[in-house]
Amino acid sequence: MLRERLRIAVIGGGGHVGLPLSLVLAEEGYQVTVIDIDETRLQDLRENKFPFLERGGEELLHKTKEFDIQYTSDFSTISNQEVIIFTVGTPVDEHLNPSYNALYSALDTIKPHIRNGQTFIMRSTLFPGTSDRIKALLKKDGFDVGVSFCPERIAQGYAIEEIRSLPQIISGDSEKSVAIAKQIFGKIASSVVEVSIEEAEIAKLFTNTWRYIKFSIANQFYMLAEEKGLDFGKIHNAITYNYPRANDFPKAGFAAGPCLFKDTMQLAAYSRNNFHLGHSAMLINEGLPNFLVEKAKKITSLEGKNVGILGMAFKPNNDDFRESLAYKLKRLLEYENAEVYCTDVYIKDPRFVNLNEMMERCDVIFVGCPHNEYRELNMTGKLLVDCWDTFPQK
Ligand SMILES: NC(=O)c1ccc[n+]([C@@H]2O[C@H](COP(=O)([O-])OP(=O)(O)OC[C@H]3O[C@@H](n4cnc5c(N)ncnc54)[C@H](O)[C@@H]3O)[C@@H](O)[C@H]2O)c1
Repeated sequence: MLRERLRIAVIGGGGHVGLPLSLVLAEEGYQVTVIDIDETRLQDLRENKFPFLERGGEELLHKTKEFDIQYTSDFSTISNQEVIIFTVGTPVDEHLNPSYNALYSALDTIKPHIRNGQTFIMRSTLFPGTSDRIKALLKKDGFDVGVSFCPERIAQGYAIEEIRSLPQIISGDSEKSVAIAKQIFGKIASSVVEVSIEEAEIAKLFTNTWRYIKFSIANQFYMLAEEKGLDFGKIHNAITYNYPRANDFPKAGFAAGPCLFKDTMQLAAYSRNNFHLGHSAMLINEGLPNFLVEKAKKITSLEGKNVGILGMAFKPNNDDFRESLAYKLKRLLEYENAEVYCTDVYIKDPRFVNLNEMMERCDVIFVGCPHNEYRELNMTGKLLVDCWDTFPQK
């Protein structure tokens, strides 16, 4: 019989995945310890400051007085926990292979505090086989802990709502690990779906890669249409209007951010670089900024011109700039010796200018990220380069 109010530590609990989950678990009545190495972030959280844009995040954080939750960088608290959830970042390295430095560093740090019988839930996206490898490494060091993999599938910025509304894929190395995953996520998710650990690991990579490839199809079609002098926005509207089979046909746009590209890359590494569809998608999506610069150059020279980039986040209505293709666009424009002015509604960066200044200074404007606030802007007289179809009335 499992205890109702499990003691749960969330490692990397100050991050985009870890923090919403920690708050939801605490709201549900679990005893939650958020463990992170980012002291500034921990202090912000103790002072009720939510560190990034997350719908419902601030309200939930403000309710924390009612919850049993604490924020710490003291890893010795691990010895007191029944369940340890890992949510640290898992990027790709300079050779485009999975890099698990943060994960292994966290595991090394907690080793002196691990107790047999604890359950480790891996929630970071993992290269298939990693959960089993972690279990084997710990076993070699004499630890007898359960390992479960329960991937996060939220859309960034909507985690608080989606943790509760989405089904949760769960897996575990034993009946106890699965039972614990079921108990925790059965309470907070809409339902749970059980598969084996490796199936769960690959299911997460397939989910993100499928999305990434869908975006690449739209981007390829955009480039194809534009090269023929056709308006892809109008064509997209014609295809999707009242046509249910095209409901999930995305518009063109920069497909990037901290997850989709690197998860497609992980799948490519998993397939021993024999993943033609994934590699093509990466070339197409990563090539879009270059296509836009070349498109503008066919109309005017960018040399010495004031050029604006409207929006720098990796996706609309968000403050996250990690792996945003707007920054790649900026570099490409600088190679053309353009004077580049960047602006963003949500990202505070002293190098950016405000929207009015950008509109006054720049006659050439690229849309880097179409936040809702830009939709009503008057672009008359500007050379507008916009793959997102931000201003369909143009
Ligand atoms: N961001 C998303 O929307 C999203 C969605 C689904 C899955 N994921 C996956 O979740 C994982 C985390 O992504 P994220 O966006 O939350 O990253 P993040 O960078 O926002 O959060 C990671 C947190 O871990 C902390 N950290 C790093 N090293 C640590 C260590 N050794 N010990 C303790 N804390 C440490 C960091 O300070 C940070 O607060 C990744 O595997 C990612 O692919 C992310």
